[in-house]
Amino acid sequence: MVQIQKIILSAVLAVGLLPVSARADLPVYLDRSKPIEERVEDALSRMTLEEKVALCHAQSKFSSAGVRRLGIPEVWLSDGPHGVRAEFNWDNWDYANWTNDACTVFPALTALAATWNPELSALYGKSVGEEARYREKDILLGPGVNISRTPLNGRNFEYMGEDPYLTGEMAVPYIQELQKNGVAACVKHFALNNQEKWRDNVNVKVSDRALYEIYLPAFKRAVQEGKAWSVMGAYNRVWDEHCCHNARLLNDILRGEWGFDGAVVSDWGATHDTKQAALNGLDIEMGSYTDGLATESMYGYDAFYLATPYLEMIKRGEIPESTVDDKARNILRLIFRTAMNTDKPFGSMTTPEHYAAAKQVAVEAIVLLKNNGLLPLDPAKYDNVLVVGENAVRILSDGGGSSELKAKDMFTPLEAIRETYGNGVKFAEGYRTGRPFFGWEEIIPDEILDSLHNEAVELAKKADVVIYIGGLNKNGFQECESTDRREYNLPWNQDKLIEDLVAVNPNLVVANISGNAYAMPWVDKVPAILQSWYLGTMIGPSMADVISGKANPSGKLPFSFPKRLEDNGAHHFGEISYPGIEIPGKGPQQEYLEDIFVGYRWHDTKKIPALFPFGHGLSYTTFKYGKAALSSKEMSDNGTITVTVPVINTGDVDGKETVQLYIQDEKSSLPRPVKELKGFRKIHLAPGQTTEVSFSITPDDLKFFDDSKHEWIAEPGKFKAMIGASSTDIRSTVRFSYK
Ligand code: BGC
Repeated sequence: MVQIQKIILSAVLAVGLLPVSARADLPVYLDRSKPIEERVEDALSRMTLEEKVALCHAQSKFSSAGVRRLGIPEVWLSDGPHGVRAEFNWDNWDYANWTNDACTVFPALTALAATWNPELSALYGKSVGEEARYREKDILLGPGVNISRTPLNGRNFEYMGEDPYLTGEMAVPYIQELQKNGVAACVKHFALNNQEKWRDNVNVKVSDRALYEIYLPAFKRAVQEGKAWSVMGAYNRVWDEHCCHNARLLNDILRGEWGFDGAVVSDWGATHDTKQAALNGLDIEMGSYTDGLATESMYGYDAFYLATPYLEMIKRGEIPESTVDDKARNILRLIFRTAMNTDKPFGSMTTPEHYAAAKQVAVEAIVLLKNNGLLPLDPAKYDNVLVVGENAVRILSDGGGSSELKAKDMFTPLEAIRETYGNGVKFAEGYRTGRPFFGWEEIIPDEILDSLHNEAVELAKKADVVIYIGGLNKNGFQECESTDRREYNLPWNQDKLIEDLVAVNPNLVVANISGNAYAMPWVDKVPAILQSWYLGTMIGPSMADVISGKANPSGKLPFSFPKRLEDNGAHHFGEISYPGIEIPGKGPQQEYLEDIFVGYRWHDTKKIPALFPFGHGLSYTTFKYGKAALSSKEMSDNGTITVTVPVINTGDVDGKETVQLYIQDEKSSLPRPVKELKGFRKIHLAPGQTTEVSFSITPDDLKFFDDSKHEWIAEPGKFKAMIGASSTDIRSTVRFSYK
């Protein structure tokens, strides 16, 4: 079936390539010289009602129909967002076991955000887009731009941290470069999908201020600046309506306020009602009737809400036909931009360039949290190295849910450390966690865990240095779709293991891997701590380069590490705020009571210091910041002022630093955070080199969302521009006034 369709399509596309003179009788929808809206209307006018409805729902696990009669191709989708997922069977959740679908695993989006380098985000989007193109995908399901509200969220590793500005800055280049391959981004999960617990029906209540200031800006920029061609509706409910057919989110905000002209794709199994889906902005329904998203049902694709039931309601006059015309328009636009784009490149897979890109991102993502001088470990000085921890050998692209990838290669940390420090490097697992499963865990017997623990501690006594590579993984109840973490501490007794290791060997480097913050009761005892992430194919070489000093760490945290869970704003207000409270007959209800005070905005305002703050990250060199200077001390209504700061590398090695700009409104009519990120620049300096970093500040950077007026406003008054190396390490502050 697919084959025949592809042949028809090739013929149709070949016509599209003919010179203009030969195209006199070409239907308008195939004429690429015509504006896209004309082509859409022309195609629509040729379609039957049945053909329009067929566009609006899945025809397999990961595809939806085109219009075969007109040579309009199917839409093929794939997860996303860290690489192109292996192929599935047409009709079920079993992998198809192809032998040519192993991919480059790029670092998780949390890691990308930790680079604070939008150029790397562009490179990432370009590279993953080339892989998606090669695999003939039309939509890549990502990037995820939900905000990390609580460190217990099982999917934070797929998102870009706690700050809407950082997330937006990183999402836009990813989307733009991805789409140059004729592959649509599908920005997910719209919206307020900030936990996995009860994700199918938790009903979120949030103020308009928090919605507009914290949870929507990255989506808005993805749509307006990134020009994303598709958006995925989330599983949860907001104001009592499921997100995939939420009138306010989809009709009023996404299309009405932001002018989105692409297709809204449902999350798999997130559609619940034909009429609402018809009226409230959903275009393509995917994955329904899968009972918890992992098992099969007896229902076919024709039974989807937007399939036969929709057709029949239109025919009976219960839903206007104009609804399906609008959906078909959105989907045709998407198809013209992707599958029917004859300019799209060929794509490529697992190339040396993609591995190099994955490594560049990975190296710049690693965050040096603490260093008393033990790091870097010079390979010439250490020949008796012990590596402890399951994550040193675990294939971390396995598990986690839909972001799971079949890696062509995974160069593990242990392999790379052996390449750097020699084959004499010893290894002890220290703990074991079992295979990754969706929604549950494999339990490892205590005797095994005890013996692994004791073995590691014994070996540590004899080593010159111990490198601990533990953290979290992609198992259920860790960092995996459909479940949240159960606790803020590291699981499997790792805290005790780290304490026992450092007690017998003070030369301990902790280089944990996770996509979330976690408690560190041992923080004061351990001399050097690196935060690594799910770094993909090149995880090992990237970590070894940073540990050995071949690369200088330059990552900065994209979210705060609270000392204790209750220091995080979402957890401060108890169960109603997280995870919500089950109300019989109404399902789980939740209120975001911390409001706009998410992440560092909470720590700053409530004066609860984080263990490691947002934006924090050290280097093997040191950077001295000079005094910031303003181009003017007054900003007028439409004016822009510039703040400039000199930065010098005062250490002995090359290094990169991310200079951050935060703005403080000294007095405002509504409560505001102490400061908010409004700019950042990553710079590269040789020892002794100085550079001037400048930021433009506009009235937009001073605004807050006034929910009573439904408007962004900047109030006249005094503001501070704070230049820092993190959200708490402010190096220079200047004041200016507005109006
Ligand atoms: C996830 C989406 C994913 C989809 C398809 C869902 O369970 O929430 O993020 O894209 O499955 O695999």
